Amino acid sequence: MFYHSRFSFKSMANYALLVLLFVSFNNGLYAQTITSPDKNLSLTFELKGNGIPVYQLQYKEKPVIKPSQLGIEVKDQPSFMDGFVISNTEQNTSDSSWEPILGEEKSIRNNYTELLVTLTQPKNNDRYINIRFRLFNDGLGFRYEFPKQKDLNYFVIKEEHTEFQLNGNHKIFWIPGDYDTNEYAYTTSKIAEIPALMEKATAFISAQTPIKNLAVQTPSMMKTDEGLYINIHEAVLVNYPAMSLNVDAENFKMSSHLTPDAVDNKGYLQTNTQSPWRTIVVSDDATEILSSKLILNLNEPTAYKDVSWIKPVKYIGVWWEYFVAGKSTWAYGEENNVKLDQDFSKLTPNGKHGATNERVKQYIDFASEHGFDAVLVEGWNIGWEDWIGNWKENVFDFVTPYPDFDVDAVRDYAKSKGVRIMMHHETSASATNYERRLDRAFQFMEDNNYNSVKTGYVGQIIPRGEHHDGQWMVNHYIHVAERAAEYKIMINSHEAVRPTGLNRTYPNWLAQESARGTEFEAMGGLHPEHTTILPFTRLMGGPMDYTPGIFQTDLSYYKTGGQQRVNTTLTKQLAYYVSMYSPIQMAADIPDNYSRFLDAFQFIKDVALDWDSTYIQEAEPGDYITIARKAKGKNEWFVGGITDENSRTASIDFSYLPKGEKYIATIYADAKDASWDKNPQAYTIRKVRVNSKSKLKQYIAPGGGFAISIKEGDVSELKTLKKI
Ligand code: NOJ
Ligand code: CA
Repeated sequence: MFYHSRFSFKSMANYALLVLLFVSFNNGLYAQTITSPDKNLSLTFELKGNGIPVYQLQYKEKPVIKPSQLGIEVKDQPSFMDGFVISNTEQNTSDSSWEPILGEEKSIRNNYTELLVTLTQPKNNDRYINIRFRLFNDGLGFRYEFPKQKDLNYFVIKEEHTEFQLNGNHKIFWIPGDYDTNEYAYTTSKIAEIPALMEKATAFISAQTPIKNLAVQTPSMMKTDEGLYINIHEAVLVNYPAMSLNVDAENFKMSSHLTPDAVDNKGYLQTNTQSPWRTIVVSDDATEILSSKLILNLNEPTAYKDVSWIKPVKYIGVWWEYFVAGKSTWAYGEENNVKLDQDFSKLTPNGKHGATNERVKQYIDFASEHGFDAVLVEGWNIGWEDWIGNWKENVFDFVTPYPDFDVDAVRDYAKSKGVRIMMHHETSASATNYERRLDRAFQFMEDNNYNSVKTGYVGQIIPRGEHHDGQWMVNHYIHVAERAAEYKIMINSHEAVRPTGLNRTYPNWLAQESARGTEFEAMGGLHPEHTTILPFTRLMGGPMDYTPGIFQTDLSYYKTGGQQRVNTTLTKQLAYYVSMYSPIQMAADIPDNYSRFLDAFQFIKDVALDWDSTYIQEAEPGDYITIARKAKGKNEWFVGGITDENSRTASIDFSYLPKGEKYIATIYADAKDASWDKNPQAYTIRKVRVNSKSKLKQYIAPGGGFAISIKEGDVSELKTLKKI
């Protein structure tokens, strides 16, 4: 299908005719409509009023987005808001497929109908922009494009005014709009209830900057009364600030709200550029929201030539004990005023330093014995004595160890055991300091055999006045990923801006945190429904380093504090390795706790991190998720199922298994009397025979979950097992 029309504005003689045409356009006569390849979605674009761009989106003839305005407000120059005429339109279809380096599917189909509209402003010297719409079977992406032209070179965005006029008072899973953090707990409410709930939802988080007017973050997950699921986010956030959504709670209207910079501007652009894609994933089936690849499809293929060094990473780390055991610390010294150029061996040791040679070697031994790729070591480097809360620029140098951490000895020991040390670059949000030292820090890693790094941005950003989600920092994170690739280093970033599918382009940027992760289980606990929401929200943008695998969930076990607990059963923690996609996964608990439950730990050892296929079996945001996946290049499958605070029975089918063959399924499940709050460690492990016709009803305890690993069985073992 191809449609093309072009109008030129060359001669003044045609001007009168054109004025007539503008009037026609303004009346919507030249509205453009495209449909998705499966015809379920249709998108209409037109100009209204004084040449204002307006779009609307329908799914199976029902409105998803009612007529909504588009536009960009520019500083000190005319804006791209109105006065437009349509000077060109093009329609195209595209159908191709591509293979992610690491991912949930071996091959991803990229099939869409495209509408490209060129909008010209005759009153502003024929300045023009493009709006490009891509309509997939699973939703819409669109972006603003700013081609190079005579009278437009540089401009500064005052605000983007992209509207999303919803068709009712939908249920919404939301966190408050904030320029600096994504680590809020989710609130579930109707759109109209957001104003009343905002204050409570905006709990204290260090270095937060809640948006002053009413706003929520993306990915924003909604459900209509008729059961339509709508997810709004963005793709390809590059050289542009992150978008939150202003909420007009009375009219059920959302609109773009960009993160400002230190001088209150919202993006510096130079023509031959474009905005990120604004994405609206739509389906009447919640499982299709989770299987959507729209955001990845809108991202660019990787520019890296050699990707052979990019591999999944399963790791443990000197980490959880800092949060729960109370016996060790990141810092070495007792002092709370240090400078990088002082002699840290002269500090008074606090006697609790975690990253000592001895302790790290124990972790290396455990990693090696159980087949882990890496050991994360936090607190190995100088500077932790006063790293937080001082808006201090030179907190860390990323290369100097504390006196009780011997880089050479640990490196050689790790090598002898076939384990990598994972570097930790906590920047304390001083991005300037990190950029200055980046090459030396990466060179140090290369010299010492480190190939992955967990980065962190806790605190207020330096350059002062910038935000975690602003244009400057967006460019910083990408710079770090690209620079790391030059050293064949993989990145796992914490506290960075929420992801937008850039892991396709920068596949060494394995995962991000950018949400409330397991660490909060040690700081008051997460609601049991939290992880049934995250895949519909935060994970729509990309993999998450959720750091699952906590077996000792009752934290009073450590006798170092109150009666805190991780609000899940033990087997729910296993399910996370399947339900929370990431090619980098931590077994976050302290090794001693795994040694106490080696039979359950076996699942974490076995589970794959990279996949040929993914089957979302059942899902409802806020309630439950069951996912099955086939390991990349292997006849092994893994299933994870979770519920919220309510018990339920999951329905699992095995129709994805090759026909006629017999497989052994090992099922790790909550015991009948298990529950997240009273009996979290009561689980059963059973082995059964399964084939492609098997069906399983699996009980899940309140706050619980289950995990299944499936392997090809040999005849003698298969004979001994019951069939389900
Ligand atoms: C916050 C990160 O999310 C956490 O994992 C890390 O331990 C601390 N920052 C210290 O860097
Ligand atoms: Ca964090």
